[in-house]
Amino acid sequence: MDLFEHQAKELFAEYGVPVPGGKVAHTAAEARDIAAEFAAAGRPKVVIKAQVKVGGRGKAGGVKLADGPEAAYEIAQQILGMDIKGHTVHKVLVEEASDIAAEYYLSFLLDRANRTFLSICSVQGGMEIEEVAHTSPGAVARIPVSPLTGVDPGKAREIISAGRLPAEALDGAAQLAERLWAVFADEDATLVEVNPMILSADGRVLALDGKVTLDDNAAFRQGGDFEKFADQSAADPLEARAKAKHLNYVKLDGQVGIIGNGAGLVMSTLDVVAYAGEQFGGIRPANFLDIGGGASAEVMANGLEIVLSDPSVRSVFVNVFGGITSCDAVANGIVSAIGMLGDRGEKVSHPIVVRLDGNNAAEGRRILDEAGIGVVEQVGTMDDAARRAAELASVAG
Ligand SMILES: Nc1ncnc2c1ncn2[C@@H]1O[C@H](COP(=O)(O)OP(=O)(O)OP(=O)(O)O)[C@@H](O)[C@H]1O
Ligand SMILES: [Mg+2]
Repeated sequence: MDLFEHQAKELFAEYGVPVPGGKVAHTAAEARDIAAEFAAAGRPKVVIKAQVKVGGRGKAGGVKLADGPEAAYEIAQQILGMDIKGHTVHKVLVEEASDIAAEYYLSFLLDRANRTFLSICSVQGGMEIEEVAHTSPGAVARIPVSPLTGVDPGKAREIISAGRLPAEALDGAAQLAERLWAVFADEDATLVEVNPMILSADGRVLALDGKVTLDDNAAFRQGGDFEKFADQSAADPLEARAKAKHLNYVKLDGQVGIIGNGAGLVMSTLDVVAYAGEQFGGIRPANFLDIGGGASAEVMANGLEIVLSDPSVRSVFVNVFGGITSCDAVANGIVSAIGMLGDRGEKVSHPIVVRLDGNNAAEGRRILDEAGIGVVEQVGTMDDAARRAAELASVAG
């Protein structure tokens, strides 16, 4: 799970990582009030920062300096509601402006390729680190961090020195690195990035930006804590319902509902449907839904229910490769799922294209044929089934 900048900074503050003072505003009036508080405390200059989970906000006009409460109001009004790379700005961070002497880069991340952790540090911060690595590779240090020993004061100084930060920033940056590692390790993050980490005119080192990705697989041992970070404004209602039913569902914006078993198969189903859909005026998959290995009738019913309650769905493609759960079990699942939906008062009216292959496929097909369900149509291969589902979606519109 990715955090907003303000959430990342709240976490940083809990761990003693120095951050500028700031508060979140949802309206321009709130932004003015927060700026007025800073002004009353003798800090009239604030920065208004769009809170979106996407990089490059500054370049898109989502980070601006305001020299007082009225300016804060004006700028917040511009930034709120703005679209940054497809993300709508619903809130801004109003933060005291720092007097910046230099901008550096520091991050900790999971290094999957080398099965360890990694710290990246550079004296050149504020811009994209990929760009720095490209133009001046010597200025980007990559230091492996052992999960067993982590980052102690010595290791922290090693990281900062390797990033070639100047002597006046060394102590502050090393201390920040040590605390940032604590955030990374204790919160089960896979990434914490501070870009820029700054040296202020009065010689302090601060995190001016924060990007944190938490490991969803570790949510269980974070005491349900991840929930406090959940972004209600972004959660799709169908995704929320699917999550409550423990389904692995992602809403997309096409017309063909997709249900498959196994993430890899579902991913390739999305591809073949998008490809086939080009012949039918740009028909596309409406969702990703992996019902997993041992899909029972109930799981199939829940899956069909979620997919069919998406108003943009016009046809459904059920693509199953029988493995541990054989095709006859899946076929029975489909038959009872459609019955179950009827009983729940949600009679299925959209065409459902089914492709069964793998373990006990012939038996599965026979079960579906014999059930004689009008909306169900069987197609032998994945490509043909994708084409048929796309075609049905295009005529159903
Ligand atoms: N509190 C602040 N005081 C002074 N300047 C700031 C402050 N926050 C940000 N800035 C300036 O704005 C620049 C961009 O800010 P920031 O890094 O937070 O956004 P960004 O890099 O555009 O966003 P992203 O990291 O999402 O791409 C910083 O490099 C810094 O120069
Ligand atoms: Mg940044």
